[in-house]
Amino acid sequence: MDQKIEHIPVLLNESIENLITDKSGVYVDATLGLGGHSKKILDEINDDSKLIGFEVDPKAILISSSKLSKFKQFTIIKSNFDKIKVELYGLELNKVNGILYDLGTSNLELNDSERGFGFSSKGNLDMRMDPNLKNTAENIVNNYSLEKLKSIFFEYGEERMSKQIAQAIVEEREKYTIDTTEKLLKIVAKFSNYKYRNKTLARIFQAIRIEVNNELNVLQKSLTEAINLLKTGGRLVVISYHSLEDRIVKNTIQKATKNCICPPEIPICVCDHKASLKKINNKIITPTLSEIKKNPQSRSAKLRVAEKI
Ligand SMILES: C[S@@+](CC[C@H](N)C(=O)[O-])C[C@H]1O[C@@H](n2cnc3c(N)ncnc32)[C@H](O)[C@@H]1O
Repeated sequence: MDQKIEHIPVLLNESIENLITDKSGVYVDATLGLGGHSKKILDEINDDSKLIGFEVDPKAILISSSKLSKFKQFTIIKSNFDKIKVELYGLELNKVNGILYDLGTSNLELNDSERGFGFSSKGNLDMRMDPNLKNTAENIVNNYSLEKLKSIFFEYGEERMSKQIAQAIVEEREKYTIDTTEKLLKIVAKFSNYKYRNKTLARIFQAIRIEVNNELNVLQKSLTEAINLLKTGGRLVVISYHSLEDRIVKNTIQKATKNCICPPEIPICVCDHKASLKKINNKIITPTLSEIKKNPQSRSAKLRVAEKI
């Protein structure tokens, strides 16, 4: 693997301008990656402030920790961000001024062919961001039932041909173990014509990756805890890259901005729910054309910002 690999931070100025409300505050980068957003936060905040970075990928931790070691305000937590509350409590931090999520995978992961995140390079079907996880892409493809494969492709990939693709995988795995990206690609590629092939492959690979890393469940849990961890005036800043992630972010923020979440048919409020957030951007922030030109990977990014009240 090429250790010099670059990951250009997406919506860098827009996210950090919205995150930092107090230069002497405590901040969390829930998805440290190669430290692009963290570096910008550290450049902006004062010496008496703190930044805590969460990351599960040991290779990313190695690179970002050496890049950011000169900043004494910085601490890395080698943990999934779904443990944000317990890990921050462990550092005696009950409240923070801002929490940033830049979801998905980094280029380090995508370009590491051995880890099998991308269909454009040959690699093992692994797809774990955290190598300590038990589930792998190979396990899913070779051992999940037809029904389960179908529902993963449909729910996490929003793939119309879910049933047919799942059926083909089940038939092929009777003949050989599907253990490389190349073998999976050959099976899936038959289900779309050349023009749409990459989109179909991207949906199937995305679906398997979400299942391997339990991405949607950990995001939901973490966002709920993050809202509770914010100080009044503190900011939640989330960059998402596909509609399933964005829907969770949007709905979680939406719910937290309401004083009542009773179903509309109930005439009097019985839920006692109180709004804990206000939206900062009603319109989603997206990359400018010039950012997309410089970094095409940013094209699907959506930034949402909310403030604790
Ligand atoms: C898009 S990259 C972040 C890039 C980073 N902002 C930068 O500028 O270098 C997302 C990172 O979050 C990590 N990650 C994804 N889900 C995570 C989770 N649940 N807990 C901790 N880290 C996670 C991935 O391993 C990846 O390195």
